[in-house]
Amino acid sequence: MSEEALPFSEVYVPDKDRYLEYYRKSIEDIERFWDERARELIWIKTWDQVLDRSNPPFYRWFKGGYTNINLNALDKWIGTSTANKVAYYWEGEPGDRRVISYYDLYVEVNRFAWALRELVGVKEGDAVTIYLPMIPELPVSMLAVTRLGGIHSVVFSGFSSSALADRIVDARARVLITADGFYRRGRVIELKKAADEAVKLAEDRGVRVEKVVVVRRAGVDVNMVEGRDYWYHDLVNEAPVKAYVKPVPRKSDDVLFILYTSGTTGRPKGIMHSVGGYMTYVYNVFKWNWDPRSDDVFWCAADIGWITGHTYIVYGPLMHGETQVMYEGAPDYPQPDRIWSMIERYSVTVFYTSPTLLRLLLRYGDKWIEKHDLSSIRILGTVGEPINPEVWRWYYKKIGGGRAPIVDTWWQTETGAAMISPAPGLSLVPLKPGSATYPLPGIVADILTPDGRKAEPGEKGLLVIKEPWPGMLMGIWGDPDRYIKTYWAMFSRPGDGVWIYYPADYAVRDEDGYFWLLGRADEVLNVAGHRLGTIELEDAIVSHPAVSEAAVVGAPDPIKGEVPVAFVVLKTGYEPSERLEEEIKEEVRKLIGPIAVPSRILFVSKLPKTRSGKIMRRIMIALLHGKPVGDVTTLEDPSAVDEVRSAIEEFKKLMKE
Ligand code: PRX
Repeated sequence: MSEEALPFSEVYVPDKDRYLEYYRKSIEDIERFWDERARELIWIKTWDQVLDRSNPPFYRWFKGGYTNINLNALDKWIGTSTANKVAYYWEGEPGDRRVISYYDLYVEVNRFAWALRELVGVKEGDAVTIYLPMIPELPVSMLAVTRLGGIHSVVFSGFSSSALADRIVDARARVLITADGFYRRGRVIELKKAADEAVKLAEDRGVRVEKVVVVRRAGVDVNMVEGRDYWYHDLVNEAPVKAYVKPVPRKSDDVLFILYTSGTTGRPKGIMHSVGGYMTYVYNVFKWNWDPRSDDVFWCAADIGWITGHTYIVYGPLMHGETQVMYEGAPDYPQPDRIWSMIERYSVTVFYTSPTLLRLLLRYGDKWIEKHDLSSIRILGTVGEPINPEVWRWYYKKIGGGRAPIVDTWWQTETGAAMISPAPGLSLVPLKPGSATYPLPGIVADILTPDGRKAEPGEKGLLVIKEPWPGMLMGIWGDPDRYIKTYWAMFSRPGDGVWIYYPADYAVRDEDGYFWLLGRADEVLNVAGHRLGTIELEDAIVSHPAVSEAAVVGAPDPIKGEVPVAFVVLKTGYEPSERLEEEIKEEVRKLIGPIAVPSRILFVSKLPKTRSGKIMRRIMIALLHGKPVGDVTTLEDPSAVDEVRSAIEEFKKLMKE
């Protein structure tokens, strides 16, 4: 963890003291700090109170303020030179291209918002589920919904119909926006088919989707239900060419959107973000992270179905008038240099991605990189998981040419935007490969031991956030108790008025005060930078009729960081077989989606459990990582450990072959 002096371009000369001075001032009076930051944005009415702390942990930002995020992301550019600037250079996987200016985007959003209001009947406060691939109609739909004062719930297009149905039911969405299909690795994924199944599943559970809007993307045959389904393009064409929909004034503490993420129970949580707080936080953090310039070409290679895309492909860059690259398909299709060729083609200046993607591309070898001129890059970023120092160095040297700082951003769906990360837009601190450096301004982060003591430098502990921040979640849709239990119960002392946000991440601070993030501290896996709840996976596995019990844990994986491995106990009368393994995997694909499919199903006759019946995942994790299992005296039947051990040895042998 020793500090390395890294020679950046002259623009980014590290200066830790300058950063820390700014940081120190920011947290002296966080309310004043955020009050000033919020004034950089357009509001319909400014707030009466910066932060309402009267009902913790339900903090409310910019109370009494009114705005609409469209005013800052779209309308403010009209009548300026940015209107004619490219908002998105979009590339489809087959190589088709679209160039969309800020003005084009504004016109399209207005026309679609008009159609949603007049023809589909979307009103303020309505939840609209959006199940779209990475096509421009996705940001258009999000902006059109928020323009009308609706609440979008974007569901990643890689989720199955059953996962989509869960999210439609939970949000009680009456309107669904989807596409006929999209391209992935040269194949067409038929999205409308999955959407139809989801609508049916939701209806069986009492939630009727009244209208479905379908974007034609792949040109595949779809079943359109008369009176329920509309073609997106027909709707937009019915709107006046110069339709103008006034952005609906929304309270700062209204819900801007919901985004589902996995937790430690079987049910995904609908994370609610606020209109004014999210807008303020994202606007500022984007500026600190990427130091936006008028001639930038910004590329965040995430999917908008996750929070990274919401913040860093839609709202953050648009609020800064950035030109972006947006891509539909697989990152290594048709060849491993797809990403590098696109960086060259569009002269990308800021590139932001996940360590998983970097590990994948690194493995293909440098010859794919050397074919391309990547000299336009001035800042690189990573997100989603800890980045291994070797990969960091490769990224820094090979992709950034040793000129571009690496902005390692630690954050979560719940936090709205980055929380711990370098800030070249303010003052860059010297970087250490693998560390997300310091908390961003206004963020009071600390590391505690499980008993609540402040961890010493070098001592591993649990990350906490000790003051509210504007980008924080407002709560969990329909489940206030779960919000308190999940994020605040661990360290808060309500009796003393102390409220501490608990993200469930391990971390350590070094002697220089740098934060190193060390992975999840709860039963949530991080597979390729995506969160998967082990219990959600176990529920999917036990829904197979042959399965009696299942325990899912993460096994180390050189590319994805970790992958789910399932230990499965079969019901009597069933024998382990490859066919059964495939069937169980198929069940997970059907219920959640391809990203959740376990890499292996290991059949055992019993699981290691405590005498009170709790599955001891800790033991399986230790064995998978080749570590000692520790204390097993509380086990109901210690022979379960031997069985798990031999299943893992078998599995490891297979992995080597
Ligand atoms: O464990 C942390 C990890 O990803 C989790 C959040 O996942 P999600 O809500 O899906 O959001 C991902 C994109 C923001 C965190 O609790 N994580 C995220 N960024 C980093 C990270 N771990 C280490 N370093 C990071 N930069």
